[in-house]
Amino acid sequence: MNSRRRFLSLTAAGAVASSAWAARRAELRFNEVEARIARRDFRDLTREDLGTPALILDEEIFNRNIRHMAEHSKSVGINVRPHVKIHKCPEVSKRQVALGAIGVCCATIAEAELFSASGIKGVLWTCQPAGRNKIQRTADLAKKDPTFRAVVDDPRTVDLLEEAAAAVNTKVNVVVDCWAGLERHGCPTGEPALALAKKVDQAKHLKFAGVMGYSGAASHTKGWENRRKKSQEHVVPMVATAEMCRKAGLNVEIITGGSTGTYNIDKEFGLTELQAGSFVFMDTAYIKIGNKSGDAMYSDFGTALTVLTTVISRNHRNIASIDAGNKAMLKPTDAVKGRPDVVVKNQGAEYGLLTWTSGPEIGLGDLVEIYPSNLDMSVNVYDRIYVARGEKIVDMWPIMGRAGAPQR
Ligand SMILES: Cc1ncc(COP(=O)(O)O)c(C=O)c1O
Repeated sequence: MNSRRRFLSLTAAGAVASSAWAARRAELRFNEVEARIARRDFRDLTREDLGTPALILDEEIFNRNIRHMAEHSKSVGINVRPHVKIHKCPEVSKRQVALGAIGVCCATIAEAELFSASGIKGVLWTCQPAGRNKIQRTADLAKKDPTFRAVVDDPRTVDLLEEAAAAVNTKVNVVVDCWAGLERHGCPTGEPALALAKKVDQAKHLKFAGVMGYSGAASHTKGWENRRKKSQEHVVPMVATAEMCRKAGLNVEIITGGSTGTYNIDKEFGLTELQAGSFVFMDTAYIKIGNKSGDAMYSDFGTALTVLTTVISRNHRNIASIDAGNKAMLKPTDAVKGRPDVVVKNQGAEYGLLTWTSGPEIGLGDLVEIYPSNLDMSVNVYDRIYVARGEKIVDMWPIMGRAGAPQR
């Protein structure tokens, strides 16, 4: 087989170019590629060797993103406990911990079990356990990992957790989750949250560990000043509640919340740590929220993740079908790497359509990289992240929260 595929060049000009570097080496058969990846031999691998659709992470942009967050947190004096929900990949978190992250936040008990088992200390499960399965697993994880923390927003959960923790003779660290703008979770701030915190503190097998409030409404608010106002509105009552807890003699170890959009805002309002997650990869929706200096684009973090696809049909003028549809991304994308002029027109289950009016041709078999407009929904349909250093594929990180968990 000698049909060398071309890929959209990553140069500023965005011209379609053949990969001269790849052309210099012998082509590998698909099963040899798989065998090489299995033994972690990435020598000479390129995008052209991969099956598509596939997730590609630009190593340089990723490293820049995680370094920027680490440096910011050190310079302003706020901890980072990054959320894993967008990547479910312990390899990502290990690199953040190496740069000073104090743990991770998880959206599901399966993620919490996985990240704890992968050696990460300081796992915070940001969703209240409910139902026998999750309550028992919370107590079991607390027994295995004393650095694990769970959250509650309801006194009934406190009773059930106390019972489950007593049954396995352990103590669960519990953070009180306060309302911070989202209806989906959080106990009302002020007296109700204080009463809940006292109830946790009095439970024999629970340890009150602090207060949480996630202002998801602030995170994607456009314009930095608007975002700051929204964050202030949602975070200040939660931090005031933490202060009430302190005054009542409770030990508030952490005041946790925040997001990628508010990472350079929330220290001012009293959070002790940030739960930001998306900044590691960024998506095309997030970069439109605008930055502190007034630019429409949020340039603090770069878009590091793409979906690599192949052009699979090319019969109509300036229209190319690609092999990435809804099953490959779940939410429609809107941006093609290196070709801002190309529009992603619609997305069926298995197909996407690219259209353009001028500019270089996109031919049958060409490789095209598209940016996800939503990270969670895109990463969630893959088992692997391929790490790219320029043209080379230099690593593969399993998305273990997807494939490795027995139960979400
Ligand atoms: C509870 C919680 N904390 C933090 C985050 C991270 O937010 P972002 O990805 O915007 O940084 C999320 C994201 O949905 C979340 O649900």
